[in-house]
Amino acid sequence: MSDPVICTTALTKVFKDFWGRTRVPALTALDLKVHPGEVFGLLGPNGSGKSTTMKLLLGLLRPTKGRVSIMGRSPQHTATRNRIGYLPEEAQLYQYLTATETLHFYGRLFGLNRTDIESRTSQLIDMVGLTHAAQRPVGEFSRGMARRIGLAQALINDPDLLILDEPTAGLDPVGCRQIKDLLGALAKRGKTVVLSSHLLADVQDVCDRITLLHNGRSIAAGTLDGLLKHSEKLQFTVETHTPEQVEAIKIAIRECCGEDPSVDVPTIALETFFVNAIANATGAADTPPSGVSQKTALAPFLGEP
Ligand SMILES: Nc1ncnc2c1ncn2[C@@H]1O[C@H](COP(=O)(O)OP(=O)(O)OP(=O)(O)O)[C@@H](O)[C@H]1O
Ligand SMILES: [Mg+2]
Repeated sequence: MSDPVICTTALTKVFKDFWGRTRVPALTALDLKVHPGEVFGLLGPNGSGKSTTMKLLLGLLRPTKGRVSIMGRSPQHTATRNRIGYLPEEAQLYQYLTATETLHFYGRLFGLNRTDIESRTSQLIDMVGLTHAAQRPVGEFSRGMARRIGLAQALINDPDLLILDEPTAGLDPVGCRQIKDLLGALAKRGKTVVLSSHLLADVQDVCDRITLLHNGRSIAAGTLDGLLKHSEKLQFTVETHTPEQVEAIKIAIRECCGEDPSVDVPTIALETFFVNAIANATGAADTPPSGVSQKTALAPFLGEP
């Protein structure tokens, strides 16, 4: 297997008070390995240590004990930092800059040339559905729109590793679906994603593996299939059926397995219903109401060979 992008060993963070007394053990002995192209989820209740873990991975906090290595180096190394994109829990945006100016600003911070900055900015603004709001100050943006520009900002340097603290918080269901599709597409291009979320359906849709934190400790970890599948149960689904056929199948299963099967009509997820309904309504309308459009195509520059 290829070298892990992220490797932590017994990673521990204790916040101390002014006198050096232990105030909060925020993270205790976390061992984590994340491999290239994986989408990895950090789950846990409020205050369980997700954001602290991310800040340790980014080198924004120093570990009390243990080690972090990102792409084989310390997270503080400049070469490492240039290959990471970060969406903080509360993105710090300059309120008076427009969406375009915001991305230009971050492009300059990464030392990109003018041509790259301009082309990446317009591709990213398109990708996150903010084309109609590109020249509006970000201070006026709704919470979901600010989240979208935050995600675009995290991608301006075409990072190999994306660390996203609650990327779908505040997004409408269509926006969540778009972000999940984008993250899947980014992972297919070989990028590694670590995200935290309280929206479990999102995590289930997009993550390959997760760690569940509780009071700063990992209490469950593994692939979603491994953690969620009832390996002993089986489910059959058919499109067309008559009452007689259903009865015949039940009898066959009873004879074969010695128990009555449960028979349900599957429901679609509320998300699927919502996304389809909005797509139909948008098809009928002339312009999107808030300047957020329904695109999901990945910006072409991301992960170009
Ligand atoms: N700078 C800090 N100083 C002191 N304590 C802190 C600091 N940052 C985080 N903590 C504490 O560390 C613990 C973990 O916080 P963290 O922000 O990592 O939780 P989280 O899992 O991201 O929660 P949420 O779901 O609410 O975002 C909490 O008890 C928090 O109060
Ligand atoms: Mg947090």
